[in-house]
Amino acid sequence: MRRLNTQVVIIGAGPSGLLLSHLLSRRGVESVVLERRTREYVEQRVRAGLLEQGTVDLLRGAGLADRLDREGLVHEGFLLRFEGREYRLCFTDLTGWTTCMYGQQEVVKDLIKARETACGQLYFGVEDAAPLDIETDAPRVRCTMGGEAVEVVADFIAGCDGFHGICRPSIPSGALTTYEHAYPFAWLGILASVPPSTEELIYAVHERGFALHSMRTPAISRLYLQVGPRESLAEWPDERIWAELRTRFALDGREVLNEGPILSRGVTEMRSFVVEPMQYRRLFLVGDAAHIVPPSAAKGLNLAVADVQLLATAFTAWYANGSRELLDGYSRTALGAVWQGQEFSALMTSLLHRFPSEDDYMVRLRQARLRDLVTSRATATAFAENYVGLARARLAEAIDAPAVAPAFEQPDPPSETVTSLKTRVRDLDARGHAS
Ligand code: APR
Ligand code: PHB
Repeated sequence: MRRLNTQVVIIGAGPSGLLLSHLLSRRGVESVVLERRTREYVEQRVRAGLLEQGTVDLLRGAGLADRLDREGLVHEGFLLRFEGREYRLCFTDLTGWTTCMYGQQEVVKDLIKARETACGQLYFGVEDAAPLDIETDAPRVRCTMGGEAVEVVADFIAGCDGFHGICRPSIPSGALTTYEHAYPFAWLGILASVPPSTEELIYAVHERGFALHSMRTPAISRLYLQVGPRESLAEWPDERIWAELRTRFALDGREVLNEGPILSRGVTEMRSFVVEPMQYRRLFLVGDAAHIVPPSAAKGLNLAVADVQLLATAFTAWYANGSRELLDGYSRTALGAVWQGQEFSALMTSLLHRFPSEDDYMVRLRQARLRDLVTSRATATAFAENYVGLARARLAEAIDAPAVAPAFEQPDPPSETVTSLKTRVRDLDARGHAS
């Protein structure tokens, strides 16, 4: 059996595993990445595409943003449609932060290229990876590469192998608690070769179900429809998809939807999952291996990046001065952000979707919440802070605060009046003109 030695063995070359390996190598820590799929497969896998500003800043700081800075579409607000009207929420005015549309698979391509350039040890097509001796100081991963049995011996194992990976099930079940929730609907997502119909995202709440208009490039649109939980793609020929999108985005007097050839399609189930703790002895769980959110708020990748940032810093401190404090605290710190992301994803999911079992009372509660979002500066600000990731940055600061601390910092003096906000959260009449 061939034997490789390294400091951190990383299972999985999704965004979590690749970014962890990249950050570690920049800080002088060696790693080996083992990925089950082919490079082509991971580079083509279509996922969400909204990067929070903090995520973009981290990628830029790590030398990963050349293409992202050229091609990413920076956004300052989104459109929200309900009750036949359209409103604009300018989250940059409310928070000072922006978001960036850039497909997750593009992030993955950039990361793989960076690992290649740095001559990183990244192996695709690795079969039967099995974490062993995770409770000892010399954990190993046994696997098969190109038909040959290989054992990678390391100081630590990073489980970046997604929800269906092998790392979480390798932890004794009594050591973990799981929390989960399944929603009674799914998203049918398409990528279409057509310029986006608007510059900003449109979240459309409709009695037939939610629809989202998003984009990847000036030539590629990404659209989603709320569908049943076990929807079969066979029942959704192109014409039915476009007809349903047209209906849900319809706004009197406004031509909105550009249509074009559908490049790919898929159904994403809507569920939430968290495992606690996110570490067991020498094995650390990162990203989707430890937590899943419904895609409503596009938090999956951003939360994974937050885990990676913490773990990379903790490993670096361990190797720099033998300090275990950050490693020991990894799960506790990460879970603060994870639950914040869970809460906001659940909020967006309940705000936007029609639940099959809901009665008219629940429908009206949702409408009241939507109206509050577009008329209350306080509600819009809290929402925007979560949407752009500022709330997570605050949480990270608060965790370092002294044991007795003020519940929140004094707010900045308002920079603009509520009257000027009304012009930002635009209320459009049925013809699409500001009223
Ligand atoms: N051995 C090796 N690799 C594995 C194994 C295994 N036994 N099991 C899974 N993998 C690989 C998968 O093939 C995948 O490439 O681990 C990788 C996990 O990647 P992701 O599922 O993308 O998870 P993560 O890197 O944490 O990224 C989180 O991706 O899933 C989205 O919405 C999620 O945006 C979020 C982000
Ligand atoms: C996406 O483009 O995939 C996307 C954007 C915003 C969301 C969810 C998904 O809230």
